[in-house]
Formats: sequence, C-alpha cells, structure tokens
Amino acid sequence: MSTARILSISAFKLLFVLFLFSACSESQQKKVNQADQFSDSTFDNHSYSNIHRIKTKHLALELDVNFENKTVYGIARHEMINSGTDTAIFDIKSLDIQKITIGQKGHEKETDFVIGPWDKDSIMGQPLMVKIDPKTSFINIYYKTTENTEALDWLNPELTSGKQHPFMYTQGEAILTRSWIPLQDSPANRLTYSATVHVPEGMLPVMSASNPQKRESDNTYDFKMDQPIPSYLIAIAVGNLSYRKLGNNCGIYAEPELIEACAYEFVDLPKMITAAESLYGKYQWEQYDLIVLPYSFPFGGMENPRLTFVNPTVLAGDRSLVSLIAHELAHSWSGNLVTNRSWDDFWLNEGFTVYFENRIMESLYGKEIADILAKIEFQELQDELEFIGESDHPEDTKLKLKLSGRNPDDGMTDIAYIKGAFFLKTLERDLGRERFDTFLRSYFKTYSFKTVNSEIFLDYLKKNLLEPNESDFNAEEWIYKEGIPKNCYAIRSPRMQRVQWLAKRFTKGEDIFNEVKWIKIKGKKKRKKQIIKLDRNKYITQEWQAFIRELPEDIDPKLMKKLDTELNFRDWGNSEIMCEWYVLGIKAGYFELRPSIEKFLNKVGRRKYLMPIYTALSKDAENLKWAQQVFERAKGHYHFVSKSSVDALLYKN
Ligand code: BES
Ligand code: ZN
Repeated sequence: MSTARILSISAFKLLFVLFLFSACSESQQKKVNQADQFSDSTFDNHSYSNIHRIKTKHLALELDVNFENKTVYGIARHEMINSGTDTAIFDIKSLDIQKITIGQKGHEKETDFVIGPWDKDSIMGQPLMVKIDPKTSFINIYYKTTENTEALDWLNPELTSGKQHPFMYTQGEAILTRSWIPLQDSPANRLTYSATVHVPEGMLPVMSASNPQKRESDNTYDFKMDQPIPSYLIAIAVGNLSYRKLGNNCGIYAEPELIEACAYEFVDLPKMITAAESLYGKYQWEQYDLIVLPYSFPFGGMENPRLTFVNPTVLAGDRSLVSLIAHELAHSWSGNLVTNRSWDDFWLNEGFTVYFENRIMESLYGKEIADILAKIEFQELQDELEFIGESDHPEDTKLKLKLSGRNPDDGMTDIAYIKGAFFLKTLERDLGRERFDTFLRSYFKTYSFKTVNSEIFLDYLKKNLLEPNESDFNAEEWIYKEGIPKNCYAIRSPRMQRVQWLAKRFTKGEDIFNEVKWIKIKGKKKRKKQIIKLDRNKYITQEWQAFIRELPEDIDPKLMKKLDTELNFRDWGNSEIMCEWYVLGIKAGYFELRPSIEKFLNKVGRRKYLMPIYTALSKDAENLKWAQQVFERAKGHYHFVSKSSVDALLYKN
C-alpha cells in the first residue's frame, strides 16, 4: 500500500527533487548558517536529516522482536521541535517503511512521504521525507527491518554459550541506527527515548535505558531513557539473560553459563566507578551495567549508556583485559555526556576516553601498570601512522578529519584514540596534573548533555587553561596538522624494556626458559647452581604482547615452535596474545599455526582481531586463498560490520 501512495504524489515528488538539489549540491555554508539560527547543530555530512529545521526531542518506540523471521516490527513515534517547516527528513537504510502518520497516538492521520534514491556509495542509506504542516510535532513511522538491516545481528542458538536460545543485538555507532530505526541519525541532536518491547517466551530484552532485572509474564517490557542521548547510543539486546549485581549501582547481564566468569572478571567495576567519579565528577546515568554478548560482537566494547556492550574475549580469566571496561565506563563522560558533533570530531569521543581510561587504570592498579598499557598503545599508534602515511589519505593522521563522502568508519583509527590521548597526556605534563584535571572537570560539566567539535574544545582550552597559565602550547598543531608533534609525551617503562630485552636474547639463541642462578649457601664458600624455569605468570599479558612485538618478522618458525612448546602462545586463551602471535606466525611462515588460527577466526567476530589476521594472510597468494576459504566458512558468525570489512579486504581486486 505504501508504494502506491508514494507513486501517486507527484507534487511531493517535485518537492523532493528540489530538496535533493538544495541539500546535496548547494554549498554546505548555507546549511551551516541555517543551523546557527535553530540550534547548536551544524552540518553533518553523514545524515540527510534537517535537524536545523525540525528535530526529535523524544522518541517512543514500540517494538516486536520476531526471531522466527529475524525481523523487528516497529513504530517510531517522534515527538519533534518544529521551527515551522512542512517537511521532516529522516535517515533510513534497508528499512521497509509501511506507513507514516502525524498526530499523537490514537489521533493519527496518514501522511505522504518520499524515499530518496539509495546513496551511490551505500554509506548513508536514504533520506525519508515526510510531508507535515508547519505546526506538526508528532510523526509516527510504521516499519519493519529487512534481511539487509546492518545494525542487527541475529544468532542461532549454536552461536550462544547456552546453545538453547537465539540471541539478537544491535550496533548503532557510527551510522547504523538508521538501519533499525527510522530517525535523524546525527550525533548533533540529542533525544530522550522510551520503548515497549515484546519478545518471545524465555527471552529478556535489555536496552541502553532503565532495564528489567527479571522476566515479565506477558513477555512485554518497558524502557525509559530520560537523559537526552545521540541516536547512535540507542541499543537493544535480546537473549536468555540473567543478572548479577556487582555493587549498589552496577552489575552484569550475561547468559547464565557465563555469569560466574563475568562476576570474577569484572569484580573491580565498583572501584572503577568510584575512581572515575573522583577524577571527573559524578556519574550521571544512575545505573552502570555491562552485558556480555556472544563472540560475534564486532567490537571489544560499546558504551551504550547505562549498559555497556562487551565482547566475551574480554573474559580472559585473569582480569588482564579490564582496561576495556575502564574505557567504556569513561565514555559515560567523554562521548555520552559530551558528544562529538559529527564524525569528523570523533577524537573528542575516543581520545578523551583513552586518556580517561588510563587515569582510571592508574588509580586502581598504579602508574607502572598504566604506563605499560599506554606504551603498548603508543606502539600501535606508530604502526598506524606508518600505515596511514602510505595510504590514499595521508591527511587522516590529523585529529580533525574531513570524512565527507566517505564512510565514518574510515576515521575510526588509532589517530582518534591514541594520538588524541597523547595530546591530552602532553597537555597534562606541561600544565600540571592538578590544573589539567580541574580544567577537564569543568569541560565535562560545561558541555554535559551537549555536543562539541574541535573548534569549541580549542576555544575552551585556550580560555580556561592555556591563556590563564600563559602557555603557548601547540594545540592547533596537534588538532589540525598531520603526524605527531615533537613535544609528544614519551613514556618510559622499565618493565617493558625488561621483556624487550628478554625477546632479544631469545632471538639471539639464548635459553631464556632455564635461567641459571648461583645461590650463596650459608657458611659455605661455593655457590650452588639453581635453574629457574620461565613461568608465564612472571609477566602480565601486555608484557607478553611487548615480548612478541619485539621478535623479528622473519623469525625462524622453529623458534616460534620452541616458544609454543614452552609457553603455548598459540592456545594461550588470551585473545590479545593469540592475535599478536598469529599475525607474527603468518608473517614468519609458521604454518603449523593454521588450525589454531582457523579455530579463532571461526569463533571470534571482533574486528580488531579479524583485520590484522586477515590482513597478514592477504599478503601472499597462497595464504589469501586459504583466508578466503576460512572466511567463507566463518562469515556467518560475523556481524555485518566485521563481515563487510573483511570482505572488502579479501576481495579487493
Ligand atoms: N565506541 C567504541 C566502539 C566503536 C567505535 C563502535 C566506532 C563503532 C564505531 C568503543 O568505545 C571502543 O572504542 N571500543 C574498543 C575498545 C577500546 C578499549 C579501545 C574496541 O572495541 O576494541
Ligand atoms: Zn571508545
């Protein structure tokens, strides 16, 4: 019915053509000027929406999650602030729009709409233009998701821990929310939301909102997010979930089979929250829960407010990867409270968060540990700089990006994360920790529940930190220039140097597994020889990572085998170490690793691990062929985000 209706409205079509003309080919400047008049929203290259004229204030969702046909049936009721326009533009991608009405629930009147052409690069999806009148403030979109809906991952029971129930979750950041909810998908706007969600018997839904801790007999659940958030933070997960409280305002959702392991791994969560609050102010979202998802989740973590989504690879069994939790928690300030206005300013979300994460880690575990973590990151930044420097976009080593016409994913590199964090570390060093912390606290307070860009930050930095202290800090260079400025903070980590030295000795052929020690015996002249076996617990995960990184790329596979015999890197169980080891093994031609690599690629869908492994495999024809075969078998276990990245890598020619 909707198709017939669309085709019959020629007048509205004309309007639409006019829109395309003005929105797409006119200079961006005009839109920016309009924006100034209406709100703090400026032009966002990755949204079609006209938030400078009309914007959603509250979104009420009615969702029916149907696992049988892997479809979400939804009504998105937008309560809008309308400056007097007769057209509202939303973003959609691969959604089936059934009808649109205006007016409050129960007093609705159907209205016309036009769906614009599919964006040629298939990045942004399509604009959905709805005819309204200048006084309209309620727009209701009836829709369902399709099999191409990119945010959603539907998992059959075999891919869960319990293997009895299916699972579903969404990933919204950066611009995928539009593929499961028709909305104005720009971080420049903030909205509150509520949802009524119906799920099949035996399943529990949870959202980035106030969450249930027990089952309802009618399988229908109500959610509320009363604090305004950007659209990329709307999220849902549905599965056979149980809940474990960890502190008075925090806990974990996970499948029952995983809940014990989670409770062990994340025991320090309450301490992290306390540490974060004493650094940069009160936690603003009442509750902080984690949900551990299945292995296909394409990220390590995602900071959905009140409910961080976590990949089970973080469950290392020894709490060695919990800095990821510190990271996602830190986003409750940087990102969720103070949000990047467009994806060109992504570093304001991630750079601040990596900095903050490291401060939480330092508070809990001391400076020595925090420095090892930061040093590991800095090594990654150096590799990234080299890689981007040789790519088609060497300008991507700037913090402030220009991603127009490109996938915002292109900006999600270690530049935003680690260069961003080192910018702040350098500021801290030069201005002093106390002053810098006071400044950051007031920055978070001033811009709470607002959006910011690099220019706003720079201005605030100058007025509140640099000028009062008569500092000539090169902030512009850090933000607008390529590469890493010379004054970058340098981390010294003696512990890291020690393992690097160990790796060097091993490469030279020394026996590092049996250290000879001469022990003095009381009352005797002669010393006694003692052999000390190298124990893998002598070093933490990140030290072993540094050890592996110190080995040469053309290391003799026999030496790798020796390490596997002694230490078993290959099946260590820690995803960071295994990923590092597999990449080295591929480069060095250590083919015996293949069964372990295949097992890993079949199980884990986290893009951070898939990409380096598949990239290393894609360097020579024979490995590439094998990688393609593995990928074809494994890709059904990956979320769209990972699947599409790996696909593009393995089939680029
Ligand atoms: N917000 C990001 C994840 C993200 C970024 C999703 C861009 C989509 C687009 C999250 O906070 C994150 O950075 N996760 C990292 C972990 C972190 C410790 C660096 C990850 O998933 O590896
Ligand atoms: Zn992050």
